[in-house]
Amino acid sequence: MIVNGSHYRTNWLKGSTVFMIDQNALPFEFRIHEARTCSETCDAIRTMITRGAGAIGAAAGFAMAQAYLESGGDQQFIEKAKNGIESTRPTAHNLFYAVEKVYKAGKTSVEMALKEAQRLADENVTDAELIAGYGNELIKNNSRILTHCNAGWLGFVDWGSALAPVYKAHRDGKNIFVYADETRPRSQGARLTAWELVNEGVPHTIVPDNAGAYLMSKGIIDLIIVGADRIAANGDTANKIGTFEKAIVAREFGIPFYIAAPFSTVDFSLADGRDIPIEERSQEEVLYITGPDEFGKIHRIRTAAYNSTALNPAFDVTPAEYITAFITEKGIIRPNNADLSRFKSNR
Ligand code: MRU
Repeated sequence: MIVNGSHYRTNWLKGSTVFMIDQNALPFEFRIHEARTCSETCDAIRTMITRGAGAIGAAAGFAMAQAYLESGGDQQFIEKAKNGIESTRPTAHNLFYAVEKVYKAGKTSVEMALKEAQRLADENVTDAELIAGYGNELIKNNSRILTHCNAGWLGFVDWGSALAPVYKAHRDGKNIFVYADETRPRSQGARLTAWELVNEGVPHTIVPDNAGAYLMSKGIIDLIIVGADRIAANGDTANKIGTFEKAIVAREFGIPFYIAAPFSTVDFSLADGRDIPIEERSQEEVLYITGPDEFGKIHRIRTAAYNSTALNPAFDVTPAEYITAFITEKGIIRPNNADLSRFKSNR
């Protein structure tokens, strides 16, 4: 991604420090957060300074490498660090995928752990580029595309999953228009996706989360592309809360509903989506919003009745039958009785 004329990745490791674009500060301020230890990187994942399935995976891999650097060979320290990383965010499978791979590599040497963490971050980028190419084939000129949450540059190490085909289509000169769901309560669509689309120069508008059925009923949406946090072997897919509603409405109106994700998001140990762990986040995210006043000073403002509580499940699971196809680094996969296990051995 190019920001202010410079190329950035969403997060990267230099020496023993993980650098990451602070996604909590965007779109109001572009700043880089530095996590100097495994524990600091865990905090950054938990508090969503870095977020989105791919970016979480890369950061978690770096955190595991940091743990090896800090351990001085103490195996108990390594095991504790691994558990700590795995407890930061429960839903995104990329986190567990990366931690396991770096953990295994580190058994050979610290250098191997570092090398593997870097390889995984690079894989994140190459997978996204392939997804961009395959997904672009599904986007016709003059397409109007709905997306939910942020599955772009910031959700991966670069390019993104759902937005990668959008960027490719735009760079290829196709006339496209994106409807970005606001994505309450944290507003990843309004804050992050919209910020990316402005930077890429992609024509777009932000829509309230509850506008989906209206827009689809009016024939305003041609296709929907979203990302994924965990996909079960049968294709059931966990993604940001509200995704399932969009899929149901899309089916009602015959609109193609695509999931863009690499195979590092597929959890082959789960036969279907029933056992996907769903993160429940703080009710504060629902009861308050944060943003700048006209002078740029950031405020946190309550938007709900005093003395009310809030429920904040962060993801939902869309059954495979609602998904038109998966856009993956291995091509477009249509899930008629999806059994993704046939791809397992290649990963
Ligand atoms: O809670 P988040 O912001 O990490 O959730 C992100 C999403 O749900 C994305 O849609 C998902 O990770 C897709 S790939 C970046």
